[in-house]
Amino acid sequence: MPDLSINFCGIKSPNPFWLASAPPTNSGYQIARAFDAGWGGAVWKTIGETIVNVSSRYSAVHYANQKVMGLNNIELITDRSLEDNLREIRDIKKRYPNHALIVSLMVESKRETWHEVVKRTEDTGCDGLELNFGCPHGMSERGMGSAVGQVPDYACQITEWVKEVATTPVMIKLTPNITDIRYIARAAVRGGADALSMINTINSITSIDLDTFVPRPAVRGMTSHGGYCGPAVKPIALNMVHSVAADVDMPRRVPISGIGGIQSWSDAVEFMLLGATSVQVCTAVMHYGFRIVEGMIEGMENWMREKGFAKTTDFIGKSLARVADWGDLDLNYSIKANINQQTCIHCGLCYIACEDGCHQSIRMERRGETNYYEVKEETCVGCNMCSIVCPVEGCITMLDKTNGKPEMSWKQYQKLLTEGKIAPIQPPVHV
Ligand SMILES: Cc1cc2nc3c(=O)[nH]c(=O)nc-3n(C[C@H](O)[C@H](O)[C@H](O)COP(=O)(O)O)c2cc1C
Repeated sequence: MPDLSINFCGIKSPNPFWLASAPPTNSGYQIARAFDAGWGGAVWKTIGETIVNVSSRYSAVHYANQKVMGLNNIELITDRSLEDNLREIRDIKKRYPNHALIVSLMVESKRETWHEVVKRTEDTGCDGLELNFGCPHGMSERGMGSAVGQVPDYACQITEWVKEVATTPVMIKLTPNITDIRYIARAAVRGGADALSMINTINSITSIDLDTFVPRPAVRGMTSHGGYCGPAVKPIALNMVHSVAADVDMPRRVPISGIGGIQSWSDAVEFMLLGATSVQVCTAVMHYGFRIVEGMIEGMENWMREKGFAKTTDFIGKSLARVADWGDLDLNYSIKANINQQTCIHCGLCYIACEDGCHQSIRMERRGETNYYEVKEETCVGCNMCSIVCPVEGCITMLDKTNGKPEMSWKQYQKLLTEGKIAPIQPPVHV
């Protein structure tokens, strides 16, 4: 049986699946049910400043027949009292000593205030702290959340204050609402962070009611920009996890907890292949409930067994070396599309996509009542678009036509070109 357990900067967890700090972790009642369902850990909904929330709070983007491609929220941190939260955290840690229980914190940017909340929180026996430097709405206007996470000096300073008194590992949760996440990640690590988590939500306005002209979610005829999350943000989160995990200028390597759009075991594996040690989930649990973790555990176990991985560290970071600078990619590698005439349903989607939007490399031929489609190999650039739009699984495949040509990166190409050793590569000629 593969071992799913992880050791996250000293915090042990029976599996890498953690609940993200959000509504599913707002109370001891919920976290107990989540741990009973199989979640390995949880990051308690952010505690700290006293706040008041608005109604309504969420809006979503649906795509085709799929509900909640993305979720937007204008909710703040917990509106429950600090005392209630701390009492329940203590109780949960006692009842579930082998689960990872991390508490998310956000208070005003004053050293004494941070010291106090850290001491009171750690007094509960929790396993670690996550500093919320990522919330992009409401709290940021008050100088907290992403207002801290967008300025490297602030992120470094507050991390230092927390590390002055913290006795458990300190994880910094990063905002994606920046130009290059690595600068904040480095600053947090310089400040002494033991771990990083990413991403918090992305600034967004999801939609507008075309009758009332009010964007959603509406609060008495008005809205405010909110935080976007859910399946739509996964590619952005994966890229950010990779850029931090692969950052050569990082002062120190620290474990990463990957967050953003995770709803299945395979999503989780992808984050871990790019360097995450644990993953956190919010939207998928808000949509489908705690029990999705059963499929996540089973799916990861099956996949590990199939691949021959005995433990999670056998595959964490395994895809990191597979992401390179564009300039290191092989210009001589060549693939061409191939349409299987036996399975083609003659819908013409590949033709339209290629002819109007891409590289005019599919030939259409009318035979009787039916249109037939064939790839023009001489001009096909191997862009993948026809296989992406084809509704028949496996009908369009991309075939390797490199024909033994040696590898040549753009960097090598530039050098050979400058030395006059090769002629410029010409793009395909369309007739
Ligand atoms: C309604 C809602 C409330 C959230 N509240 C918090 C919070 O209090 N603290 C925090 O660090 N992140 C909060 N988040 C962000 C999530 O923890 C998570 O970073 C984000 O939703 C991306 O993960 P997902 O795509 O799985 O939802 C909240 C997200 C949602 C949807």
